[in-house]
Amino acid sequence: MGLEQQLESLAVDIAREAGALARARREEGVSIAASKSALADIVTEADREVEALIRARIAAARPGDGFLGEESDPERGSTGVTWVVDPIDGTVNYAYGIPSYAVSIAAVSGEPDPLSWTALAAAVHAPALGEMFHAARGEGAWLGETRLAVNAEVNPAGSLLATGFGYDPATHGPQLALLGRVMPLARDIRRIGAASLDLAYVAAGRLDGYFERGLNPWDHAAGVLLVQEAGGVAVGMPGDAPNRDMTIVGNRALVQRLADVVFADDTAGDTQGR
Ligand code: IPD
Ligand code: CA
Repeated sequence: MGLEQQLESLAVDIAREAGALARARREEGVSIAASKSALADIVTEADREVEALIRARIAAARPGDGFLGEESDPERGSTGVTWVVDPIDGTVNYAYGIPSYAVSIAAVSGEPDPLSWTALAAAVHAPALGEMFHAARGEGAWLGETRLAVNAEVNPAGSLLATGFGYDPATHGPQLALLGRVMPLARDIRRIGAASLDLAYVAAGRLDGYFERGLNPWDHAAGVLLVQEAGGVAVGMPGDAPNRDMTIVGNRALVQRLADVVFADDTAGDTQGR
């Protein structure tokens, strides 16, 4: 088994244990621990506890790897591998009792920066939905034992697209304006509330495409590898890999159409609203 598959197997095992903990804590009742970047950007006690569990399991299995997670301090490693972790993606869904939340774990090599890293392995686990999406670089993307493929055609009825909105109210106007420009390409829009699941669902062909501004590395690290290993394309700003400035995924033709619209009228107001 190559390194990528070893990392995938570890990510899946840890995501399963972390998901069980998140689900158990949800059933006991969620307490909001704090607000972060904005009042709406919450962290629960469970987010912190689940990240601590994931971090401890990674450190025990692979001492020396780096760590970049949503809820604790980053650490540079010595092995060239960094784990990029969102313990509960979709925290607002989690707090409200909506089952669309996920543990997202990726292993990347190179600098821990989405503009330059190479994703090696990914697990996105939605414990309340009983689904485990996983991928290893060069080995395909899977939902359990089923191999995934993005929808290859651009649907003449329009594309089923997902997006998201940042927590900062200042970004909402530009993001709604962008959605208005994209709307003619869409048969409908979904706002699922967990970027890792938006990306996993594109990989699984449940959505045709997804775009969002303002994502953090842990929101997209695992999901982008799922899309790529399912035969899809993932881009950021023109010439860039997906990052905070922009993430667009789908099949090649759809990503091109979305990029044409997203970047056609990228006014100063939009840019400020990332
Ligand atoms: C958020 C979710 C949401 C996306 C936000 C993310 P969190 O992550 O993925 O769908 O629109 O940009 O920050 O805060 O639930 O981990
Ligand atoms: Ca997240």
